[in-house]
Amino acid sequence: MNSSIDNTGPTPAFKASMRAQWDTAAAGWNAHTAAIRAWLHQPTDAMCRMAGVSVGSRVLDVAAGSGDQSLAVARLVGPRGHVLATDLSPAILAMARDNAMRAGFAQVETLVADGEDLGVPEVSFDAAVCRLGLMFFPDPLRGLREIHRALRPGGGVCTMVFSRPDKNPCLTILMATALKHAGLPARDPYVAGGLLSLGQPGRIDTLFRSVGFHDIATTALDAVFRLPSVDYYLAFVRHSASPILQILGRLDAAAAEAAWSEMRERLMAFDTAAGWAGPNELLLTAGRRPEEAT
Ligand SMILES: C[S@@+](CC[C@H](N)C(=O)[O-])C[C@H]1O[C@@H](n2cnc3c(N)ncnc32)[C@H](O)[C@@H]1O
Repeated sequence: MNSSIDNTGPTPAFKASMRAQWDTAAAGWNAHTAAIRAWLHQPTDAMCRMAGVSVGSRVLDVAAGSGDQSLAVARLVGPRGHVLATDLSPAILAMARDNAMRAGFAQVETLVADGEDLGVPEVSFDAAVCRLGLMFFPDPLRGLREIHRALRPGGGVCTMVFSRPDKNPCLTILMATALKHAGLPARDPYVAGGLLSLGQPGRIDTLFRSVGFHDIATTALDAVFRLPSVDYYLAFVRHSASPILQILGRLDAAAAEAAWSEMRERLMAFDTAAGWAGPNELLLTAGRRPEEAT
């Protein structure tokens, strides 16, 4: 079955703004699927392995976006498995649904839902994944509780988030430059709901532990974003990096161009003879709901 239902419920201001940002960035994110897949292909395979996704699994995909990892999961579970792709943004999730239909994956279903309040039945999934989504949750503990509740005892989860600011210098440059040009003060990189909010060493393991997951293990993976030139990266950011776009949305066209121009200059530091190579480090954290519910 390939269907779409809405389960967002009432959203406070932060969620409404997050949803609007990703509704706006949806087409840009989806248009860059090939580049994102090349960048995240290996970490995505590792995430699926660490969550225990296998043939016939019922898998919950939280903050699925336009569904690139949902398709990877669908391939692994096969036609007898099931993938529920969920996201706060109806616009980006509609693209996930179209992408799954076009790929012929009838085992993918979509549900518009806040990851902190999924509303899915308890104990209904064998595995769960969340790729580059949990850090945007103002209360990630609530998001993890929802996943724990949805998993069957013994079911596995793996989340992927960005690590520390110094290991993700391009994100740090983009954010600092955008804030400076918008006349806003520098932000604590670990502020809740921000791009790097779960990057502080040990933080995500602590959250997994508080929720009651067992067998918790975090792996840091280098994921260099390789593109033909810095301009490809900037095109990706300009069309799909919703946190940066939200900050620059306050500026007039000329002021925004000045910000983009400074970003380009600073990001040129990652130009190489073989193209542009932006360093990133990802944290993959796996856990398992204990056999005996805790
Ligand atoms: C960087 S995109 C990642 C999309 C996809 N997982 C991928 O890796 O291609 C972040 C996604 O998180 C979603 N998101 C942000 N806050 C959310 C929340 N509270 N609940 C569900 N999804 C959320 C956004 O709508 C967006 O689709």
